Amino acid sequence: MTSLDPRRARLWERLGLGPVWTERSAPALAPAGSAGLPVEVPVALDRGIDRMGWDELERTVAGCTACGLCKARTNTVFGVGSRDSQWMLIGEAPGAEEDLRGEPFVGQAGRLLDSILAAAGLGRAATGASAVYIANVVKCRPPANRNPEPDEVVRCEPFLRRQIMLLAPRVIVVMGRVAAQAVLGTDASIASLRGHAHRIDVAGASVPVIVTYHPAYLLRNLADKAKVWADMCLAREVFDRTQPRAH
Ligand code: URA
Ligand code: SF4
Repeated sequence: MTSLDPRRARLWERLGLGPVWTERSAPALAPAGSAGLPVEVPVALDRGIDRMGWDELERTVAGCTACGLCKARTNTVFGVGSRDSQWMLIGEAPGAEEDLRGEPFVGQAGRLLDSILAAAGLGRAATGASAVYIANVVKCRPPANRNPEPDEVVRCEPFLRRQIMLLAPRVIVVMGRVAAQAVLGTDASIASLRGHAHRIDVAGASVPVIVTYHPAYLLRNLADKAKVWADMCLAREVFDRTQPRAH
């Protein structure tokens, strides 16, 4: 069944907004398109984002001042990779190097991510079935690399949601607790979310989501590399079982 988790629902309520996107955590791979509430865009947050194409969306992010993270940023970090990618990876927020370069995952964690992707036959510069699109939940760097606050996530999330809609990926891999909790609308731990496919409904489309550890965490916990590899293999299986979507 479809639900919006209570924490997010409370947050939205406080902001005077309705639910924006809904999550259905189902046993692995429920049939696409079954159940799921239509996604409502609250009037107060309807900045026309759900009607934007890629270029307008990127320009809008570049000029966005919807949350306090706009103040200290050098660059917004929109996303990287082919807009025809059938794989999507989602991280948390830009760090210092990403803020300077305007591209996600270009620091130390990014280099690890690139080698994980290469091992899986994927890459941010690849085309065709090997192409991945990489984006973060929030597009501006939080000061001192703190986690994004819930209201920053809420303000920024419509951009990510539109990126998911435009990309219509066959599979999404979310990396780390902040991304997993934001995308799936849950408080659950990474450990409990790993190992099976979740599904999110975005504007009527049902997209499988695989949860894994964040590469920055892996740098400190190299023993968990095998788990990330298992998660990438699961994502590959889900990918292979999912029909390409018409764009
Ligand atoms: N960590 C993230 O979550 N995203 C980046 O872009 C860089 C580091
Ligand atoms: Fe806008 Fe997102 Fe940057 Fe906040 S983090 S200013 S919502 S683009």
